[in-house]
Amino acid sequence: MRAGRLAVPIRRRTPPRCTSGESTTGPKSGSAGVDSAPVAGSAEPTASVFTLQTAITANDQTSWRRLGKERCRLFYRPHLSTVILPSPSHDHCGRRAVDRERVLRVSGGRIGFGAMQLATAGRDRETSVAVLRRAVELGVPLVDTAFLYGGGANEELVAEALYPYGEDVVVTTKVGVTGSGPLSNWRLDGRPESLRRQVDGSLRRLRVERIALLQLHRVDPEVPLADQVGALSELVGAGKAARIGLSEVSVGELAEARAIAGIASVQNRYNLDDRVHEPVLRVCEAEGIDFLPWRPLGEPNGEAIAIAAEVGATPAQVALAWLLDRSAAMLPIPGTSRVSHLEENVAAEQIELTSEQRRRLNQEPV
Ligand SMILES: NC(=O)c1ccc[n+]([C@@H]2O[C@H](COP(=O)([O-])OP(=O)(O)OC[C@H]3O[C@@H](n4cnc5c(N)ncnc54)[C@H](OP(=O)(O)O)[C@@H]3O)[C@@H](O)[C@H]2O)c1
Repeated sequence: MRAGRLAVPIRRRTPPRCTSGESTTGPKSGSAGVDSAPVAGSAEPTASVFTLQTAITANDQTSWRRLGKERCRLFYRPHLSTVILPSPSHDHCGRRAVDRERVLRVSGGRIGFGAMQLATAGRDRETSVAVLRRAVELGVPLVDTAFLYGGGANEELVAEALYPYGEDVVVTTKVGVTGSGPLSNWRLDGRPESLRRQVDGSLRRLRVERIALLQLHRVDPEVPLADQVGALSELVGAGKAARIGLSEVSVGELAEARAIAGIASVQNRYNLDDRVHEPVLRVCEAEGIDFLPWRPLGEPNGEAIAIAAEVGATPAQVALAWLLDRSAAMLPIPGTSRVSHLEENVAAEQIELTSEQRRRLNQEPV
């Protein structure tokens, strides 16, 4: 380990490799019981079994909210990638204040992995496979890819590295942009028939029967939002996706989409120096929607550089620690092509900011 870099945590699990040949990572309809795999030290959940079953199998928002009100105890369902938070004052790491109970629909750690940076060809492909496998080994709860990244090549890389997928990593992809070759040849395409076609391609490339989290990469302004979200919702109904996520949406678009279907996540650009989507983050936090900031590292920030020197970490780690500290809804997806950076990013979860450091990073008056 080089100086100034927080070591990777040792509490992580061993690589989860599914031995059953199971091909999906999402919840299975009708399979919800509440008594499986409680977290060590936790008591039996007090939430009603029925409500939890409804919430999980139907992703029913009313049931999720009712569960919150019942102040259920912390328990964990690895095969459903579901964590119920125990108290209004701590997140599932038991360390960060949250203003109410909420449900985080991912398991394990709080730092995900964005696969976009990975080389899919040449000699670097081998390194990319190693990075992905190490990410899962370190307990990264979510791996983000998209059809756009290499026209499916990135999805194939993820499958090559990780299939058969472990039960506690969500492999998510994004559709809604089509094309081939250089980026200039790509365009938004949110037509329902196109979304359906893209999803069939993603299912094939990811080698799954159901996509754990299917995200709309961009809202296509040429197509009614209701048609785009409606198409994704139908794909959930058809069993081809377990949950729906959105990317680069406004508060208004999120509300419009939520009137049509349950939305599990929002992926918007957000980092220390770019907080344009703060209002969207706050809606996600209030509504129990996971917020996946892309470009989470941003550019090295002056205050982050100073605090990194103080705490013996790197600016990238401080940028990630700030995100986690910022909201319990936060699930950053930093991307890297190097194992060393990956380990560094995951270790950022260990950093506890002081209130003074938080104020400086928040750029609030001291
Ligand atoms: N929804 C969208 O529209 C959208 C758009 C863009 C990206 N994304 C997703 O978001 C993910 C992350 O976004 P991003 O890749 O644009 O931004 P990012 O994760 O903030 O930054 C990635 C860059 O930071 C470097 N890096 C990573 N870890 C580092 C560390 N510890 N120290 C120093 N440098 C480090 C990487 O280089 P090295 O490879 O050298 O480490 C890479 O150049 C993508 O992988 C993708 O999955 C989504």
